[in-house]
Amino acid sequence: MKYQQIPFSRPVLSDDELLSRSKAYYEMMNVRRSVREFSDRHIPDEVINNILLTASTAPSGAHKQPWTFCGVRDADIKRKIRVAAEKEEYESYNSRMPQDWLEDLAPLGTDWQKPFLEIAPALIIVFKRSYENVDGRKKNNYYVTESVGLACGFLLAAIHNAGLSSLTHTPSPMNFLAQVLNRPENEKPFLLIPIGYPAEGCKVPNLTRKPLSDIVINY
Ligand SMILES: Cc1cc2nc3c(=O)[nH]c(=O)nc-3n(C[C@H](O)[C@H](O)[C@H](O)COP(=O)(O)O)c2cc1C
Repeated sequence: MKYQQIPFSRPVLSDDELLSRSKAYYEMMNVRRSVREFSDRHIPDEVINNILLTASTAPSGAHKQPWTFCGVRDADIKRKIRVAAEKEEYESYNSRMPQDWLEDLAPLGTDWQKPFLEIAPALIIVFKRSYENVDGRKKNNYYVTESVGLACGFLLAAIHNAGLSSLTHTPSPMNFLAQVLNRPENEKPFLLIPIGYPAEGCKVPNLTRKPLSDIVINY
């Protein structure tokens, strides 16, 4: 069944307007930082819903929208997630990560301990859906990783735009998240994203971003 084609347009803006809007958005996004020390301050459910609605506007292969977002506020579930994440991270930092990886992480000052998983007021766990069960058979989704990655990009931007902070967390392997949250077989954990305000006195690594000249080649 084909979608009905409906009219679509955007207002044509002056070059000055394009310039000021693109600059303002860049300047807003450029102060986004990953945070590893969170305040436990409450954030409204509706804010999280709006952020998730924004994530769900991302494009996806054949419009399959192959994502599930689990929002966790429950203290017991957050504790279970912290305990399981720290178990994996302890193994990773102490025996699984190759030396190069440990050396690359060292400047960030991260370690296996993840207290923020209990302190942050909410965790968003993103699952990718590699297939759907339709009429008793598996129907594959397409470009699942690309699609869910895009949705997560929209999600992080929406969190930052709302005035909140997040961390893109990957306590690998992440299968424990599917178990703790009782997710079905077709869903695989993709990212674990604590969300909230930074803790008072929170610090972040003083890193810089590559200049345009290092990341862009114009033809
Ligand atoms: C796919 C991905 C996985 C990441 N996993 C972790 C993680 O497990 N733990 C962590 O502390 N930071 C993690 N990060 C955050 C990066 O360290 C962070 O984005 C990077 O240092 C740049 O800092 P910024 O986000 O403040 O610009 C991850 C980021 C990405 C994109």
